[in-house]
Amino acid sequence: MENEVLSIVDKRTGKTYEIPITNGTIRAMDLRKIKTGPDDFGLMTYDPAFMNTASCQSAITFIDGDKGILRYRGYPIDQLAEKCSFLEVAYLVLTGELPTAAQLKDFVTHITYHTMLHETTKHFLEGFRYNAHPMGMFISTVAALSTVYPEAKNVHDPEVRKLQIYRLIGKVPTIAAYTYRHSLGFPYVYPDNDLSYAENFLNMLWKMVEPKYQANPALARALDILFILHADHEQNCSANAMRAVGSSQADPFVSVAAAAAALSGPLHGGANEEVLKMLDEIGSKENIPAYIERVKAGQVKLMGFGHRIYKNYDPRARIIKQAADQVFEVTGKNPKLEIALELERIALQDEYFIKRKLYPNVDFYSGIIYQAMGFKPEIFTVLFAIPRTAGWLAQWQEMLCDPEQKIARPRQIFTGHDVRDFVPIEKRGVREFPAAA
Ligand code: CMC
Repeated sequence: MENEVLSIVDKRTGKTYEIPITNGTIRAMDLRKIKTGPDDFGLMTYDPAFMNTASCQSAITFIDGDKGILRYRGYPIDQLAEKCSFLEVAYLVLTGELPTAAQLKDFVTHITYHTMLHETTKHFLEGFRYNAHPMGMFISTVAALSTVYPEAKNVHDPEVRKLQIYRLIGKVPTIAAYTYRHSLGFPYVYPDNDLSYAENFLNMLWKMVEPKYQANPALARALDILFILHADHEQNCSANAMRAVGSSQADPFVSVAAAAAALSGPLHGGANEEVLKMLDEIGSKENIPAYIERVKAGQVKLMGFGHRIYKNYDPRARIIKQAADQVFEVTGKNPKLEIALELERIALQDEYFIKRKLYPNVDFYSGIIYQAMGFKPEIFTVLFAIPRTAGWLAQWQEMLCDPEQKIARPRQIFTGHDVRDFVPIEKRGVREFPAAA
């Protein structure tokens, strides 16, 4: 469109530049031609934390943060959560379309075929200390798979990529279950390929001496729904890590490990564990007002609240609240739910949260369900990483197949010293370590 142009007048030179606008976006490289002279590098943008910068074009996940909309490949998240299995959604996220019955059967067979870990990987896991955090074990073990499958580095071969995708989606529940069993001191349970993805995961977590583990169908379904809700979430911190690391053509195992490391932080997927710690600290409903005052005074954050993109109720949190009822029918109510509901009620009426558009996010209620299902908080973020592996791999494939993408390499504004002469050691002043930034 003719009008889809941004006119910029550079008052330094008096020159006018016409910058095309596409999809409500200008290309940062178009600014490079805005120069004061031949020696000038050209204009750059400065955007710490990517507050207003699109780093890619993507057709996977759509979010409208103001309206609270989340869709994978065009399908609303609530419809997928109601009607699909997690592997069906993983197929959708990865390929762009829902599978036919035959395609789904084939996909499930491939994933199921790759659930086992090499025995040496099992021994690798045994080397962790008894109290190692499951997320640290998960990240390291996923990275270690890179040594088991060296061909994975052929990232431009679509068949090689497909095989690693099957392997990763197949093996992450096994690794996750083993990290948990390790922390409990229980022997590892081999995958049971007769079971569904969620049932098999529960089998590897909870099976003791019974010959065949039977997961409660309501709990297996609730877990599958939670997996669907966590499958992808466009360009968040971990997807960005996956794309950045993958852009160097590192193999998908180390790239997923990097993404999982990004997920582990308390501001991202680590928030679900932090929510439970917070609810424990609050202890009872009477203590909520005092806790809210601490949040407003900036002493603590209300974990599980707020989002860079959602300025409305996170649609995943809404679906989780519904799934919680089905879980509690089996397990009995988690007493923390009462505290969480009251916390939400008070926060949503408070000017501090209203003004900043802070609503519960996916992590606010997920931990309460996980705990009711019998999980300890240390495993919560690993439960997030299992389904998100499908999303990371979809983002990775899309990045590798995008002819516009190259190795990720941001610019900087250099704020350090100008050139200065070397100072011999005996003439240097005393400085605290670490030196001030
Ligand atoms: N509690 C109290 N105040 C908050 C919170 C919170 N949870 N989140 C944001 N704020 C305040 C923040 O202090 C700031 O206030 P002011 O304008 O006075 O400085 C304002 O709201 C804007 O926040 P921001 O930090 O600029 O927002 P952001 O987009 O950089 O951060 C966030 C987003 C998710 C990191 C942040 O909301 C947060 O730390 N939330 C708690 C951790 C959490 O629940 N993370 C899970 C995110 S959803 C799942 C996932 O993607 O992993």
